[in-house]
Amino acid sequence: MNTTLKPNIDWVGYVDWNVRDFHSYETARGATYNSYLVRDQKTALIDTVKKPYAKYLMDNVSALTDLKKIDYIIANHAEPDHAGSLPFAAAWCPNATIVCTEKCKDILSSYNDTSGWKWQVVKTGDSISLGARTLTFIETPMVHWPESMFTYVPEEKLLFSMDAFGQHFASAQRFDDEVDLSVILEEAKTYYANIVMLYGKQIARVLEAASKLDIEMIAPAHGVIWRSNIDKIIAVYRKWVVCQAVPKVLVVYDSMWESTKRMGEAIVEGASQAGAEAKLLYARATGLTQIATESLDAAAFAFGSSTLNQDMMPMMAATLTYLRGLKPTGKAAFAFGSTGWGKGGAEAVDEFIKTMKMDILREPLKCKWLPDGKVLAECREAGKLLAERALKVTG
Ligand code: FEO
Repeated sequence: MNTTLKPNIDWVGYVDWNVRDFHSYETARGATYNSYLVRDQKTALIDTVKKPYAKYLMDNVSALTDLKKIDYIIANHAEPDHAGSLPFAAAWCPNATIVCTEKCKDILSSYNDTSGWKWQVVKTGDSISLGARTLTFIETPMVHWPESMFTYVPEEKLLFSMDAFGQHFASAQRFDDEVDLSVILEEAKTYYANIVMLYGKQIARVLEAASKLDIEMIAPAHGVIWRSNIDKIIAVYRKWVVCQAVPKVLVVYDSMWESTKRMGEAIVEGASQAGAEAKLLYARATGLTQIATESLDAAAFAFGSSTLNQDMMPMMAATLTYLRGLKPTGKAAFAFGSTGWGKGGAEAVDEFIKTMKMDILREPLKCKWLPDGKVLAECREAGKLLAERALKVTG
């Protein structure tokens, strides 16, 4: 496995082939926690790995250098998938100074007993000379936590971008041109949608800052390293930070005895006949991770639920709660669903989506018991409404 990014700059992280859950994010293709070793007159370790894999990290580093020779451990991000092994690294590298932002120091001090740690607090524009190479720091608040930062090596035109541009993707290969580009772009989209969609404005600012740098290689903290397709990952990020939509309609639903499902199918039919791409996503089978990913570039939604105990079905509640937190912008929606008696799922969904800052396209579309021909015709008409919005928004 080639782990060399540049002469004396190496990947020393861990490939987590088996992980399938990352705090509720379904990591279907596993993950990596990337650490990098920069050897010069002084030596720096950039980020660590998740706690259970500290020994792997230290073995990878030890294969390249004496741990006593580590002068700096750069903590770009305090989240435990990158800083979980930091206490071990700090103990096993007795001459290392921990370099991070002030906020990162606070967070690391909350998670760990840091007595005895040597610190160097940095801010945007600060740099550390390693000899022939320099580490320059750029604060990137909310990408992905408030304390986060990038580390840039100007002499190598190399950006260590932490979570940004990452993908949950386990691979024996380390570089974007060694794997299927469509797969890593798909995983980068899934990562963006599920981890940082709500921070679009902050990431747009980071893209602006990064555009001023001369970059030949982007080394994120997850997944493969970008060296041949930097223009492509930057281009899609520019679309994602504004949730730019394609002419796509999503009908997301849960159904008890198939009435709401039949309504959803008719909505998809109407949207599709009107010229939009339309997808029917069954909340209980599709999973939150995929629904969020599909939502990133969708233009218009119908959210449906049958009635359970005078409320929406539990997986619709989970789906809507998850999507509301991710704050997709510029979207439109309406609610639909079936009931047997009294107030039901459609009203509950309608009340919820009014809190999601989506344009509400119509009153809830409801039916009693099974949808008849009249209700299904109304569903097809509502599907056309979604398609008109999708085609209009996406030009
Ligand atoms: Fe990969 Fe925000 O941690």
